[in-house]
Amino acid sequence: MRIYQTDGYRDMSRKTANIISAQIILKPDCVLGLATGSTPVGTYDQLVEWYQKGDLDFSEVRTVNLDEYKGLDHENDQSYYYFMHRHLFDRVNIRPENIHIPNGKAENDAEECEAYDRLIRQLGGIDLQLLGLGHNGHIGFNEPSDTFARTTHLVDLQLSTIEANKRFFSSIDLVPRQAYTMGIGTILQAKKILIAVSGKDKAEIVRRAFFGPVTASVPASILQLHPDVTLVADEDALSLSGDSIG
Ligand code: F6R
Repeated sequence: MRIYQTDGYRDMSRKTANIISAQIILKPDCVLGLATGSTPVGTYDQLVEWYQKGDLDFSEVRTVNLDEYKGLDHENDQSYYYFMHRHLFDRVNIRPENIHIPNGKAENDAEECEAYDRLIRQLGGIDLQLLGLGHNGHIGFNEPSDTFARTTHLVDLQLSTIEANKRFFSSIDLVPRQAYTMGIGTILQAKKILIAVSGKDKAEIVRRAFFGPVTASVPASILQLHPDVTLVADEDALSLSGDSIG
């Protein structure tokens, strides 16, 4: 695992955007796996800025998002579809047909999940998967568990995740209880993984996920076994991992 320690959130966003930008320049029709949440917002803003300057071209890029809440439609401003369009897709020249996000309104859960994994295979796999890290060690919505889920599936969100997400909803009752997420197996098949983390509140989980034992009770810990992972984290997020990174 490569680790870049950055000087705060802005620097983390720039470094993360740099790596994504390099991927697009090296392979203009690459498949990017993308994440939502607060962490990548600055990264997306930076990519948009470089696009506006003429330094980046999304016309051939294909994307697959990690996850989507079950039950929210595209117009819902808390859906990940809405988030991605607001922060990135509506601001760059990506083609709508090249954007893929699990359908929160799918009628048949199993079919939706199978179709999503099939789609990723048909696209030739993910070249670079961007991840954030949940406070409980989740990646995508793969919550702590006894086993690692392999494929895209429907999950019951844990109370801690519902609590963490309630800031985006007017009431906790409106936070969806289930979500579709790529499985750990799906994520691990990405050729490269880029995980971005910022803030003191993530320091303990960064230490456990990347410097502790690999265990399904900390889903992100499995990334230690992937051959090409880059962790971009600010000094706050790495503040409890000092001895481990030297
Ligand atoms: C979002 C996702 C989640 C987030 C994680 C961290 O698509 O898959 O795993 O990356 O919950 O969220 P933030 O960045 O809001 O701390």
